[in-house]
Order: sequence, then C-alpha cells, then structure tokens
Amino acid sequence: MSVFETVAVALWAMLPAYVPNNAAVLAGGGSPIDAGRTWNGRRLLGDGKTWRGTAIGTLAGAALALGLNAVAPEVSAAVGVDLPTFPLAAALALAAGAMLGDIAASFLKRRTGRERGASFPGLDQLDFVVFALLLAFLAAPSWFGEVFTVPVLVVVFVATPVLHLVTNGIAYALGLKNEPW
Ligand code: CTP
Ligand code: MG
Repeated sequence: MSVFETVAVALWAMLPAYVPNNAAVLAGGGSPIDAGRTWNGRRLLGDGKTWRGTAIGTLAGAALALGLNAVAPEVSAAVGVDLPTFPLAAALALAAGAMLGDIAASFLKRRTGRERGASFPGLDQLDFVVFALLLAFLAAPSWFGEVFTVPVLVVVFVATPVLHLVTNGIAYALGLKNEPW
C-alpha cells in the first residue's frame, strides 16, 4: 500500500470512532451516568458523562459506519483506494469503544484529582482510539486483522491526536465545548 492508501484506509476505518465524541458534545446533557455517586470524595465519572451523550454518540458512530458502507464503492472508485466496509459488529464496537474510552479517561481523571473539564494530555487524545480498536478486535477479529495492518495502526496513532486537537479546537471556537481539549 502507498502512503496515501494507508492514510485513506486509516482515516476511513476510524471515522465511526471519531464521530461519537463529537456527537456526544452536541447531544450531551441530562442524567450523568454515575448519578452523582462519589468515591473517596470525588465523583465516579462526573457530570460530563451522560446517558444521553453516550447513547447518541454510539448510535451516531454506528449509523455513520452503515452510511460509509453504502458509499464505499463510489468513494473507493473516486479516490482509487480499496476502502473497507464495516460489519455491524465492527461498527458498533468502534462507536461504543470510543465512548467507553472517553468514560474510562474521565474515571482516571477523577481518581487523579482532576475536575470535570481538566486536561490530561495524551489520555484525552488517545483514550477513545485504544478502546475503539480493542473492542473492534474483540468483536470482529478477522475483519480487524485485514483492515488494521501495522502501517494503518501507525497512521491511526499519529493522525488521531492531531485530528482530535483540531476538531476540539473548532468545537471550542464555536462555543460548543467549554475547553479546547
Ligand atoms: N458528553 C456526554 N456524554 C459522554 C461524553 C460527553 O454527555 N459520554 C458531553 C458532556 O456534555 C460533556 C461534553 O460532551 O461536558 C464534552 O465532553 P468531554 O470533554 O469528554 O467531557 P468534560 O465535560 O470535559 O468532562 P471530563 O473532564 O470528564 O472529560
Ligand atoms: Mg473534556
């Protein structure tokens, strides 16, 4: 695979994991998942992790994957790259994994004394990638092996933090997010 093909496949395959966090920002609000519970005097997750944001984020990511399946032949032909389609299990795993990673990061942030909205460099940019890939691997191992080759994984880990910083910066500038991370 050429570098262009590798980058195209990496970004395409990760789109269902990129969308959930952004959809959650737009959809957030309502009851927090931890229902206000604390552990050692600190919130379990905090008010920033809600049922509504998590559900809509997961659905948005999975729906996007199904949409990508529908246009994969046309887009593949247009860019000259054989882009993968998403089995339902992979679509759900990428989306739910992204949300789960973000929730796990909030859990860690609260345990380390960081209030809601505090940054945790590195964790903020990669939490959702690690969990999305892990769940996709567990849910659809052979698909995962075909799509996420080592070069594709390298691109994912390099490009995702950059994309994450850019999209969150835009969300912050638009007033959709309280902090630019
Ligand atoms: N959000 C949500 N449910 C999620 C993830 C995000 O409702 N599972 C919404 C919340 O409104 C949240 C916003 O998206 O405030 C921004 O997400 P994020 O930056 O992940 O949360 P923070 O509020 O910064 O909280 P934390 O410090 O726990 O990351
Ligand atoms: Mg945040």
